Amino acid sequence: MVEFRSARPEEMEEVVELVNYVFRTSGGMEPTMGRQFPTIFCPDNASDIYVAADEGRIIANIAIKRNTGIIYGHKVSMANMGAVCTHPQYRGRGIGTQLLNMVFDRLNEEEVSVVTISGTRGLYRRNQCVEAGGMVTYVLDKQSYSYWALGGMEYEISKQFDDTGVLCDVYQREAVRYQRSRMEFPVLLKAVPMVHPPVDALTTLVAFREGRKDSALAYLIGYENKPGVFKVVEYAGERLAVWWLAGKLLEHAGMNGVILEVPIYDAVLSSILSSEGIRGINSYYPSTTVRITNKSSLWREIYPIVEEMWHGGDKPPCGIEDLPGNVYHDLEELTTFLFAGFNRHPYGAPWDRIFPIPLPWPNGLNYV
Ligand SMILES: CC(C)(COP(=O)(O)OP(=O)(O)OC[C@H]1O[C@@H](n2cnc3c(N)ncnc32)[C@H](O)[C@@H]1OP(=O)(O)O)[C@@H](O)C(=O)NCCC(=O)NCCS
Repeated sequence: MVEFRSARPEEMEEVVELVNYVFRTSGGMEPTMGRQFPTIFCPDNASDIYVAADEGRIIANIAIKRNTGIIYGHKVSMANMGAVCTHPQYRGRGIGTQLLNMVFDRLNEEEVSVVTISGTRGLYRRNQCVEAGGMVTYVLDKQSYSYWALGGMEYEISKQFDDTGVLCDVYQREAVRYQRSRMEFPVLLKAVPMVHPPVDALTTLVAFREGRKDSALAYLIGYENKPGVFKVVEYAGERLAVWWLAGKLLEHAGMNGVILEVPIYDAVLSSILSSEGIRGINSYYPSTTVRITNKSSLWREIYPIVEEMWHGGDKPPCGIEDLPGNVYHDLEELTTFLFAGFNRHPYGAPWDRIFPIPLPWPNGLNYV
C-alpha cells in the first residue's frame, strides 16, 4: 500500500537518489541535486520533504522550502516547491496529484500563504496553480552597448567571491526579496541552485566605491550559459552600477552578450535599459507557477501593502471578499489578480494602481 507522509531525516539519502535519478542521471547528467539544493535535501528539512512510499520504498517526492518573502518591507509567508517526481514505474496512477494536494493542505493548515512552484506542467495547472509575476528579458550586446564611465568606481570579478557579508548587505536593501541569512548566502552561492544544466560555479561581479571594499554598491551573479553569453541569475543594489557591471562583462571579461531578466517591478533598471534603446521581451516569471495556499493569512499579510498603495478618499475595502468580480471565489483568478503582471487584463480603478503585488524573483539563489 502506498503511504503519503513527510520523509524521515534518515531517508534523505534515498530521496536524493530518487530525485537524482529522475532529474539528472536518467538524462545522462551528473547526480548534482544534493549539491545544488543543500538547504532543501538536508535532515533538518526532512519534515518538508513530502514522499509517497510503497512498502517503505520512496517512490515519489515533493520538496518544499519555506521562505519568507519581504515585499516593500512586509513579510509574506511563502513556500517554494520543486523536485516533484514519481518513479517511472508508478506514474499515471494519481500519486503525484495526491501528494500535491496533501502538501497544499499542510501548507494551508500551517498558514503558509502562497507557494511558488518550479514548473508549469498539467499536474500543477489542473490543481489551481497559475503563471504569475512578470519580467522583461533583455539581451545586451558588445557592439551596441553604450559604455559609461562611472567616476570613482572599481569592481571585482570572481568565481570564488568569499566576502559574502558584503553581498548580503546589498541584498538586504532590496525592496522585494526573500529573507536570506548571512549563513545561507555563501551556502547558496556555492550550490548554484537554479542553473540547468548544472555548472560548477557562479561568477560574481561586485561594484565598489574606490578604496571602499567593505561596502558594495551592487552585484551581478551569473554564469556563461553559452560560449560568450553571460546569463545573470541575480542582481541587487544601485541600478546604474548594475548596468555598469554588465558593461564590464562585455568590455573586459570576453563576453559578447549578457542576458538580464528584469522583474517588472524594477522600474529603475528597466528605464535605464529602455533609455539606452534596448528592447526586451515580456513574459511571466520563468518556468514557475504560483498557488495561494491560505487566502486569509495571505490577505492579512499583504493588506498593509494595499493600505500603503491605496489613494483617494475612502479607506481600502476591509476584506478579501470585497475584491472585484469573481476574484474571491476563484483561486486561480485571485492569484492572477494579485500577482500576475503579464497578459493582465484591466480590473479598473483603483485596483490597477495597486496590483499586481510583486513576488520575489524566483530564479535567483533562493530555490524557485
Ligand atoms: C509529473 C509527475 C510527477 C506526475 O506524477 P504522477 O504520479 O504520474 O501524477 P498523476 O498520476 O497524479 O497525474 C499526473 C499525470 O497523469 C496524467 N493525467 C492525470 N490526470 C489527468 C487528466 N485529468 N487529464 C490529463 N492527463 C492526466 C498526465 O500525464 C499527468 O501529468 P502532466 O499533465 O503534468 O503531464 C511525473 O510524471 C514525473 O515524475 N515526471 C518527471 C519529473 C518531472 O517532470 N517533474 C515535474 C517537474 S516540473
